Amino acid sequence: MTKEIFETVNHETIYKLSVTNKNNVTISCLSYGANWYELLVPTEHGPQNLILNFSKVADYQRINPYLNMSIGRTAGRIGHGKFNLNGKEISVPQNEGDNTLHGGPHGFHNTNWESAVDGQVITFTKNITADYDQYPGNLAVKITYTLTDDNQVLIDYYATADADGIFNPTNHAYFNLNTTDQNVKNLTLQLRSSHHLALDEEKIPTGETIANAQTPFNFQTTKTIGAAIDHMQDTDEKGLDDVYLIDDHSENEPIAILKNPDENIAVEIYAERNGIVMFTANKFGAEQPFIDKTGQPYVGVALESQTVPNAVFDPNFGDISIHQDETKHYQTKYQIKF
Ligand code: GLA
Repeated sequence: MTKEIFETVNHETIYKLSVTNKNNVTISCLSYGANWYELLVPTEHGPQNLILNFSKVADYQRINPYLNMSIGRTAGRIGHGKFNLNGKEISVPQNEGDNTLHGGPHGFHNTNWESAVDGQVITFTKNITADYDQYPGNLAVKITYTLTDDNQVLIDYYATADADGIFNPTNHAYFNLNTTDQNVKNLTLQLRSSHHLALDEEKIPTGETIANAQTPFNFQTTKTIGAAIDHMQDTDEKGLDDVYLIDDHSENEPIAILKNPDENIAVEIYAERNGIVMFTANKFGAEQPFIDKTGQPYVGVALESQTVPNAVFDPNFGDISIHQDETKHYQTKYQIKF
């Protein structure tokens, strides 16, 4: 395990922390944004990174694809930055037109976290105060990344609140399971989801759900990501940026299986949340200087396990509340196969 200086930015030290397991899998993280920086697996061509990354902190700050960032307090969009809490209307800062995306301008992603590494666990902690992000209540947050010897990456999110508020964290990792420089259209995906959410033109959920069967959105049986994207070329988005509802399942059933069938590399995702947002980087381009991957549309796929964003308005879509003196814990497990 190591903790080293990655870069010093405006007198602030950004650390890179890494751990390796007995199978020579390495994960590393940056303290900036409690970011998942690398997922290295051994291959015949040497260690290959299965998630996208940049070489400089400035790239993470300059463009904002939330690349592998920890996201909070709330994943996704809050329409008009407004919601009700205990019968009172709360306004949080907006950062995408009139809406609040991924925790707003002062989300988990653009702050430097306290960091430590111990054994095979990387830990980030931070007091996300109401003064800092303008959400209700102070939140003591801990995010841990654990690499197990059976090639699982566990991301655990813990928060303790000193007042009633909301907490719906995720990680915005972009996977590309190709060891060569190509986009992710060839990867196959299976999603445990029979419905996705209808979104308005600003991508705010309308409250309606749409059956996936017989539509390009359907990944209930395995198909390539490219097969879906090819059917979406006449839409503005030209690909996926959608909220899937996860069907009931047991703890040991994956909610998503992403696979490179040509190289036999796969990631299975396990989580007990009711949603997953799938974003296929539809408009990415050469301005995004990824290490070892050319910036281009569909260069990575983000599969963001979370409670669906409209839970903030409607408890029928899940509970993202956190109460005074309560500690909430969520876990996402990524089983890496190679
Ligand atoms: C999420 C959103 C997308 C986009 C990305 C970050 O996936 O749903 O619209 O903002 O984050 O680039």
